[in-house]
Amino acid sequence: MKGTIAVGPGDGIGPEIIAEGVKVLKAIEKKYGHEFTLNYFDFGGVSIDKFGVPLTEENIQLCRNSDAFLGGSVGGPKWDYPGSKAYTNTAGLRIRKDFDVYANLRPVKVYAGMEGCSPLKPETVKGVDLVVVRENTGGAYFGLPKKQWTENGIRWAVDTMIYSEPQIERILRVGYELAMRRRKKLASIEKQNVTETGKLWRAMAMEMSKDYPEVELEHVLADACTAWLLREPAKFDVLVMGNLYGDIISDEAAAVSGSLGMGGSAQLAGLPTGSDLAWGFYESSHGSAPDIAGKGIANPIATILSVAYMLDYTYQLPKEAKVIDDAIATVIKTARTTDVMESGMRLVGSKEMGDLIVEQIEKS
Ligand code: IPM
Ligand code: MG
Repeated sequence: MKGTIAVGPGDGIGPEIIAEGVKVLKAIEKKYGHEFTLNYFDFGGVSIDKFGVPLTEENIQLCRNSDAFLGGSVGGPKWDYPGSKAYTNTAGLRIRKDFDVYANLRPVKVYAGMEGCSPLKPETVKGVDLVVVRENTGGAYFGLPKKQWTENGIRWAVDTMIYSEPQIERILRVGYELAMRRRKKLASIEKQNVTETGKLWRAMAMEMSKDYPEVELEHVLADACTAWLLREPAKFDVLVMGNLYGDIISDEAAAVSGSLGMGGSAQLAGLPTGSDLAWGFYESSHGSAPDIAGKGIANPIATILSVAYMLDYTYQLPKEAKVIDDAIATVIKTARTTDVMESGMRLVGSKEMGDLIVEQIEKS
């Protein structure tokens, strides 16, 4: 397999964790005879410092000429404050819209031995292995009208939650396809009891279930879903939902695992299965953590997992992805970065964590 990947290390701990992700990618390249060309560019605050914007047109083109974009985390107090002329997160939102990455996959897995890292009871989170599939380019984030105005001295604001049939169809299909590759369970999340978008969503989920008779479909209201995630998170396999619910519920689901440092993500412009390469934006779910930047202690696993998702979903290399996941599962049994440190474990920094995972991949 030959590929071209745009790499934007970003700000704060971004460059440190991207270095470990790339290290793992190189190990896979070597072991399986793939060839990936990496094109590095400035993304986020570093780009604002150099060019005044968090993402230049030239670098958007560089991403367009690549199969995927592997991004570090962006942001920091230097750029992101009320009244700032250039917020770093506009870069990511621009990519969502320009590249039409309509499916945001946010997997949450509690690895065996890491149950103690969760704020929930260890027996509650045992075996949690789910994916939140968030619609990423529509709904309340982008619907129009979206504005503030004043009428008779009263201030108003509106956001519009709007979905078309094709928008719902394609995201539900991602949910179904992913469920087919996994444990064949799909939870469709909406608020059909109050919203029209929810009613259409539920009707379409039911209609499409005819195409996927093997998938067990469950409808869960968004508010009830937040409760189930605390009570019985292990019952979920794939959860599919609109943009705003996905923003909220993916944070909750990530918290169930106990550490943001273990959460990678994939934002896809196509199906995660099939023969066509789906352009994807792969990044850790956590922020740039300016407070620990440069210390070499950040957990690189979220980024390493994002590399695994890239191999899996853009390059259709599930075997290589699984080798990475298995390596992580083995390494975390004895070694941990500080964010997920537990008694009896060896405390390691970012580099050593990357090395241990590479070592495990080479052995496999
Ligand atoms: C996320 C973030 C973004 C969002 C912010 C940074 C705009 O919270 O990716 O979940 O709300 O989508
Ligand atoms: Mg969010």
